[in-house]
Amino acid sequence: MSSEFVVGLDMGTTAVSVLVGEFTADGETRIVGAGAAPARGVKKGVIVNIDEASASVREAVSQAEHMAGVEIRGVCASVSGPHIRSFSSRGVIALPAGRREVTARDIEKVTEAARSITLPFNQEIVHSLPQDFAVDSHPGIRDPIGMSAMRLEAEVHIVTALGMPLENMMKVCKKTGLEIVDMVFDPIASARAVLTREEMNLGCLLVDVGGSVTSYALYHGGTVRASGVVAAGGVSVTNDLAIGLRSSASVAEQLKLSHGVALASLAGEEEKVMVPGVGEREPREIRTQILAAIIEPRTEEIFTMVKKQVGADPYYRLLGAGIVLAGGGSQLRGMVEVAEEVFDLPVRLGRAANLMGLSELVDSAGWTTGVGLLLWGGDRIAAQGGGGPADRVRWMFHRIKQMANLFS
Ligand SMILES: Nc1ncnc2c1ncn2[C@@H]1O[C@H](COP(=O)(O)OP(=O)(O)OP(=O)(O)O)[C@@H](O)[C@H]1O
Ligand SMILES: [Mg+2]
Repeated sequence: MSSEFVVGLDMGTTAVSVLVGEFTADGETRIVGAGAAPARGVKKGVIVNIDEASASVREAVSQAEHMAGVEIRGVCASVSGPHIRSFSSRGVIALPAGRREVTARDIEKVTEAARSITLPFNQEIVHSLPQDFAVDSHPGIRDPIGMSAMRLEAEVHIVTALGMPLENMMKVCKKTGLEIVDMVFDPIASARAVLTREEMNLGCLLVDVGGSVTSYALYHGGTVRASGVVAAGGVSVTNDLAIGLRSSASVAEQLKLSHGVALASLAGEEEKVMVPGVGEREPREIRTQILAAIIEPRTEEIFTMVKKQVGADPYYRLLGAGIVLAGGGSQLRGMVEVAEEVFDLPVRLGRAANLMGLSELVDSAGWTTGVGLLLWGGDRIAAQGGGGPADRVRWMFHRIKQMANLFS
């Protein structure tokens, strides 16, 4: 059975992670390699030092290559940051006279029509994801292929990003000998890894609490309806602790990981923890209630910012499957409870499901974006009609050309 490798590169603010998946002809994605390195040269989700960022990527890629026993070249990379924007756009086309049946090519054309909009300065389109179609003014059609029509309309979810950060990401990859074959906005990748099809249909909000940003994607009727980013995450919690306890960021991070809790009522009354002194100062003992009292308002604020942004979307009122949390920041004890309070909806922690291979290695919220990137890459290959390697190479070149066009 022939198989093919898909590589996910998650260039986060705190860590770079790389996963290598083997995509078999029967549609399974098996994880065969993984690598991770602390992110250097990245600030607030944006590359600020090409050399440092390249060294981090190289370190993670080398580990993954070694484990998988393959050389990595084409990658499906994550993109995030406060510069991301998203909105819906409408495309309309008339079917050619003499042919009145919608084809896959028409779907491409109508999606392309929805992309023909004036973008804010220096923004580039990362995704254009069709939501619903209208055939001869009959709305709410999910799959119009094969239908008789004279006119086809599409509502399309568009995600854009600032050109400069994307260009820098490409530079880092090029310097590391990698080629980006596809880019996926973080929460869309995470959602692919943790949401079930049923949740995507019923209505579900995926919230990825990362290091410096928290991103979200809202699904309903099996498709993305809204997405966005707020500029706060796990690092904001750590910084608050460092200020509140008058200690360093590394001490605050350790305390957060070992004793942090997002909801004050979950911290034990009597539980205490030692805070190492900074400089010549003596270590102090504090109650974990104090940690929780610092952490709770920030986590509440993060979820409130997300709710404020996405709450105005009409689909927000249709979240039959509630909220799913992903990202490293969601692993803080009590996050589910805080989210339930803020959103007033049922919340669960997302875990990457249905993985073969090294699943025990990546069964953690910090890897969900990487796993989603792999599955996304696998989907794209499968969407080429399960064609042979030649088709897949053609698709890769098509995507590379599209990526290159972003900056031409
Ligand atoms: N067990 C844990 N408990 C609490 N916080 C955690 C835990 N594990 C990781 N984190 C926090 O998660 C954050 C990093 O999350 P993640 O790895 O998803 O971010 P990233 O992808 O590097 O960043 P971003 O998505 O913002 O670019 C850090 O702030 C870290 O402190
Ligand atoms: Mg992330």
